[in-house]
Amino acid sequence: MSAHDHDFPKTTVTQFVLALLGGLFAPGLVIFMIIKMVIGIQATHLVDADAAVAEAKVVERIKPVGEVNLADASGAAHVDKAGEVVVKEVCSACHAIGALGAPKIGDKGAWGPRLPQGYDTLVKHAISGIRQMPARGGNPELTDIEVAGAVAYMANQAGASFKAPEPKAAEAAPADDAAKKAEPAKQK
Ligand code: HEC
Repeated sequence: MSAHDHDFPKTTVTQFVLALLGGLFAPGLVIFMIIKMVIGIQATHLVDADAAVAEAKVVERIKPVGEVNLADASGAAHVDKAGEVVVKEVCSACHAIGALGAPKIGDKGAWGPRLPQGYDTLVKHAISGIRQMPARGGNPELTDIEVAGAVAYMANQAGASFKAPEPKAAEAAPADDAAKKAEPAKQK
């Protein structure tokens, strides 16, 4: 019994130490896992925040491209051509060679007496036609701005310094749509 009595406290001490270590280890493990979980959640949230920021940045970067694409799409329907382009495609048919007595492009002698009429009058004549000069150079699809741009381009080649109205380019196309939508609202 004495040996058993002697062994009993020994075993209890060992068990106590093991229990103590185990008791410390188990909650330690739990605490460790909780901390890991919290860090993990925080990390996930940080990633989410980064992703949101990154996405916002990407959207911002994509935005202008999207606008341009939209403008190009509607622009395919109608974008005002630059004066130079209109002249090359339409007006030069007569104005390059002076057909039907058209004032030649860059011919200061031919344009000289016409320029003092003023830009607005010349544009009006080009839009509605004058004598052998057909309305809109014979292309009714040209807009006023396109014709005005062509007049400025041709007249400026002959020494004028007319400022053509801004052609409604890619950027102006959505604004044009917005203006169309806004029009009824303005009238009310
Ligand atoms: C079919 C031939 C023809 C084409 C195409 C043509 N023109 Fe002309 N244009 C003329 C002739 C001819 C005149 C001279 C008219 C006159 O004063 O007797 C003229 C004159 C003009 C004048 C001077 C008008 C004035 O009051 O003195 C302008 C500006 C002009 N053209 C602009 C244009 C523009 C812009 C285009 C293209 C969009 C164009 N023309 C295409 C034949 C043409």
